Amino acid sequence: MEAKERIILALDVDEPERALDLARQLSPYVGAFKIGMQLFNSAGPQIVRDIQARGGEVFVDLKFHDIPNTVGAASKVMTRLGAKMFNLHAAGGREMMKAAADAAADEAARLGLARPIVLAVTVLTSISQAQLEQEMMVTGHSVSELALRWAVMAKKSGLSGVVCSPHEAHHIKQHCGPDFLTVTPGIRPAWSAANDQKRITPPAQAVRMGADYMVIGRPITAADDPVAAAARIISELEAK
Ligand code: C5P
Repeated sequence: MEAKERIILALDVDEPERALDLARQLSPYVGAFKIGMQLFNSAGPQIVRDIQARGGEVFVDLKFHDIPNTVGAASKVMTRLGAKMFNLHAAGGREMMKAAADAAADEAARLGLARPIVLAVTVLTSISQAQLEQEMMVTGHSVSELALRWAVMAKKSGLSGVVCSPHEAHHIKQHCGPDFLTVTPGIRPAWSAANDQKRITPPAQAVRMGADYMVIGRPITAADDPVAAAARIISELEAK
């Protein structure tokens, strides 16, 4: 995969104008733009179409978690919208994940569209072992064991990959196969600020650790020159 294709720029902004400005500047330097609940809920699905109209691919990061019928229907909507990727919580269960994978495949075939990459979110990195046990009542598994088990379940349910830490990518690929995609946040080049990320990995190292795609936000969006920051990440990836 080309270095640029690996970069997914997180558009964590409220204003569609700011998102479109970033998309216009950075389309030649990134493989896709991630629209999460902040921007989607502020600007609606039109922001996806507007970015696509400027030549950008979109990862719609809304983390579905509902009954299988509802998630299947929402997955059809994502497919019609032309999302390159979208995601759901593995905690919604096997049947829910399968409903999403099947609905995306069926709708893509029906309309002659590309089949989106459907990703599972396993355990959110903000959840501690204590919260898992005391608040979510999941006992008997460490967070990383649970993340791995859910990744395996996602694979068996027909999903394309998971969102995970670069530190988990290798292990997940060992269990789910090399084609099971890993999309990793927590990426920081050596020259950028860590911000609130706790466990950070430089881009080239993340790829060596098994990351297929990297979600990168503030190292690019908060840089004085976002285009120069993205170009620098690409050259680091190419030099690896
Ligand atoms: O600005 P930054 O590079 O930290 O942005 C990372 C993006 O990845 C944000 O949109 C954040 O919500 C998302 N993310 C994350 N950690 C996770 C899952 C998603 O940082 N475990």
